[in-house]
Amino acid sequence: MKIEPRTYDLNGRSLVFRSAEKEDAEMLLPYLKRVCGETRFLLREADECKDMTIEQEEAFINSHVENEKACLILAELDGEYVGNASFDVAGGSRRNSHRADIGIALYLDYTGMGIGKRLFALILETIEKCGFETAELTVVEGNNRAIHMYKTFGFMEVGRIPKANKYDDGTYAADIHMVKSLN
Ligand SMILES: CC(C)(COP(=O)(O)OP(=O)(O)OC[C@H]1O[C@@H](n2cnc3c(N)ncnc32)[C@H](O)[C@@H]1OP(=O)(O)O)[C@@H](O)C(=O)NCCC(=O)NCCS
Repeated sequence: MKIEPRTYDLNGRSLVFRSAEKEDAEMLLPYLKRVCGETRFLLREADECKDMTIEQEEAFINSHVENEKACLILAELDGEYVGNASFDVAGGSRRNSHRADIGIALYLDYTGMGIGKRLFALILETIEKCGFETAELTVVEGNNRAIHMYKTFGFMEVGRIPKANKYDDGTYAADIHMVKSLN
C-alpha cells in the first residue's frame, strides 16, 4: 500500500516520509549495502548484502506497494534519503494475517535526532489503519536506543532467543521479540 506523504519540521530542516516507488530501487541499493555494515543490530553482515541486485530491490518495493497489508516508507531530510521503515504480515497464512511485522533502520549519521520516533509513529498509525491486531518486531539485545523507543510506544518483551546472532568475531547476541496489542 502507499501512504500520503508527510512533512515535518525538524529543527528548521524538512523531514519527509513517503512511500517507496519501484524507481527508488537504484537509490536504495547502496543504502542497504552501507547500513548492513554500520551496525551489529541488523540481520546481515556487510558482505552478505553486496550481491543484492536492483531486480531484488524492485521486487521488495513492489511487494510492499501492491500488498494492501504491507508498506515501505522512506525518510528524507532536506531531500536526502536517510532511512526507512516497513511492515508486512508476520506469517504466511491466514491465521497469521492479523499480525504486522515491523522493520526500521536509519543511516547511523542520522540516528539520535528524533527521526526514528516520528517514523515509527507513522508506521504504527498505518498498521492500525490496516486493521492489524498486533504489531511485532525483533530487536538484538544491547540495542538500547531501539528497545527504549519500542517500550515508549507500548511494546513489551515476550521472549528471547539466546545466542540467536553469532558474529564473525565469535561473540553472540540474543534476539528479543517484542509485541504491542492494538485493540
Ligand atoms: C533504532 C532507530 C530506528 C531509532 O531511531 P532514532 O532516530 O535514532 O531515535 P530517536 O532519536 O527518535 O530517539 C528515540 C528514543 O531513544 C532515546 N535514545 C537515544 N539514544 C539512546 C540510547 N543510547 N539508549 C537509550 N535510549 C536512547 C531517545 O531519547 C528517544 O527517546 P525519548 O523520545 O524518550 O526521548 C535508529 O537509531 C536506527 O535506525 N538504528 C540503527 C538500525 C537499528 O538498530 N534498527 C532497529 C533494528 S530492531
